[in-house]
Amino acid sequence: MNNDILKVVCDQKHIQKVCKRLGEEITKDYQGKTPLVVGVLKGAIFFMTDVVRYMDLYLSIDFIDVSSYNGGTQSSGKVNLIKDLDSDVAGRDVIIVEDIIETGRTLKYLQDLLKDRGAKSIKMCTLVDKPEARVVELPVDYVGIDVPNEFLVGYGLDYQEKYRNLPYIGVLKPDVYQSK
Ligand code: PRP
Ligand code: MN
Ligand code: MG
Repeated sequence: MNNDILKVVCDQKHIQKVCKRLGEEITKDYQGKTPLVVGVLKGAIFFMTDVVRYMDLYLSIDFIDVSSYNGGTQSSGKVNLIKDLDSDVAGRDVIIVEDIIETGRTLKYLQDLLKDRGAKSIKMCTLVDKPEARVVELPVDYVGIDVPNEFLVGYGLDYQEKYRNLPYIGVLKPDVYQSK
């Protein structure tokens, strides 16, 4: 699996540094609040579990599953709700946690959904931002790293459901997806 990687964009050590920085920033911003931290399945699970451990706050966690890539490299343009939250978000301070923001469609969909349900506040936290890929403009409150427009895998990011378990983020060799 590691052989399919062209280059490492963000190694394990750097990921932990970024998680610590974001977790501490959120800790400051949410003093006296009990946020609901929502991880977006499946990509965000690794970042979610790391970043919340740097938040010195009483918080709850929940997960929602939406999908638009169907495992491939191109966004289908349509976001599907696959698994809903268990929690009621009405009146809650919600922090949406993502592994990556590309077109912005997934986060826009989630923001609208949670706003409709009466969330008191909604902020977005992503480990990776790919600003060049943006189709829907939206503010992202907490960003780990900006990356160029290359196809990335690892630490939650998949290609056809594979590579999520790589402990770092890397660029996939183009022949891996061009040959299929
Ligand atoms: C990926 C990624 C983000 C979203 C970003 O998820 O994990 O959730 O796409 O893309 P966007 O900004 O263009 O909407 P995907 O839909 O592939 O599901 P997954 O997390 O299960 O891989
Ligand atoms: Mn995702
Ligand atoms: Mg995916």
